[in-house]
Amino acid sequence: MAAKSIPWNPVFEMGIVEMDDDHRGLVRMINTFLEVVDNDEGLIAMDEIFRGLIDYTLHHFDREERIMAEAGFGGLDGHHLAHLSLKDRVGVLRDLYLSRPGCEAEAEIHRFLADWLTNHILKMDMQYRDTILASRGLLLKSA
Ligand SMILES: [Fe+2]
Repeated sequence: MAAKSIPWNPVFEMGIVEMDDDHRGLVRMINTFLEVVDNDEGLIAMDEIFRGLIDYTLHHFDREERIMAEAGFGGLDGHHLAHLSLKDRVGVLRDLYLSRPGCEAEAEIHRFLADWLTNHILKMDMQYRDTILASRGLLLKSA
C-alpha cells in the first residue's frame, strides 16, 4: 500500500449501506491511483484507473440520484448538477493525463480526488443523509 494511502474513515460513513459500499470503492480507487503514482506504473495503469472512475461515476451517481428521488430529497437537482460537473472533470483530467502524462497531471488528479472525497462526500452527500435515513425509518433523533 502506498505510504500516503487514505484509510477508510468513520467520518465518511453515512449509514446508508449502498452509498457506504460505493464510497469505500472510491477510496479504494484513490488508493490504487496513489500506488500507481508511487510506483510510476505509467499510462496503462493510469488509463485503467480512469476506466474505473468513469464506470463509477456512471453507476454510483445514478444509484445515488435514484435513492434521493425515492426519498423525495429536495436538493436532487443541485446534486445532479454537481455530479455532471464531476463526470466532466474526470473526462477532462483523463484527456490531460493522456496528452501530457507526468507529475503535473498527477498532482491535478490527486487534488481533484481529494476534493471529491472531502467536499463532495463529506459535505454534499451528507446533506441528503438524514432524508434517506428518515425515509427508511433509520433516523435516530437525539432528544
Ligand atoms: Fe453525490
